[in-house]
Amino acid sequence: MQHVYELDHPLAAHHLSILRDSVTPSAQFRIQVRLLSMLLAVKATEDLDLEPVAVTTPLTRMEGKKLTGTTAIVPILRAGLGLVEPVLELLPDAQVWHLGMYRDEATAMPVEYYSKLPTINPAKVGFVLDPMLATGGSVRAAVAALKRWGVPDVRVLSVIAAREGIERFHAEHPDVRVYVAAVDEELNPHKFIVPGLGDAGDRMFNTLPWNA
Ligand code: PRP
Repeated sequence: MQHVYELDHPLAAHHLSILRDSVTPSAQFRIQVRLLSMLLAVKATEDLDLEPVAVTTPLTRMEGKKLTGTTAIVPILRAGLGLVEPVLELLPDAQVWHLGMYRDEATAMPVEYYSKLPTINPAKVGFVLDPMLATGGSVRAAVAALKRWGVPDVRVLSVIAAREGIERFHAEHPDVRVYVAAVDEELNPHKFIVPGLGDAGDRMFNTLPWNA
């Protein structure tokens, strides 16, 4: 698949297996999301622009480098929140804009409930964060919002994606790079990713129905 970058790294495979495991508790689940988000962010930022900067080390002066150009990270609420802090640690000057969306249980279509994206001064690079890309509807809507804002380079960071969801997403946004820890083969009749990891938002925030 073009423009799909799947992590191919022993650390990703290791941490992903713990994430998927149904007995992994919420606290550990959040840690796994955090670790995988950092691995994704490293890969998704490897071509960001740099400019020279003067650095004085304890021994001498030298020319170092610093990031240049505005970046925005855009988590899709709720589950995308789990990716914000780790990505922000690597991109501390990034803007953070939130998009609220939930997937209607009957139709599996995204329903937007919060958006405060500005209409001026688009970031140069925008990263949409969501741990799950199932049908791709939520990410499709989020990317469309960033494009309306005027972001010329939009990238998606997702922990697990379904192959058919990526294909549907790319049918609409073929230019957008998708960074994932794993591409799973199936969606079940309820549009859940299989093997997947269940509901990322519920597992992250300890709101599984049987805990209520
Ligand atoms: C989940 C997930 C994605 C979306 C993926 O969110 O976090 O946002 O569904 O599905 P899609 O690719 O078919 O659109 P959910 O609706 O469970 O909301 P939550 O983040 O509040 O848990």
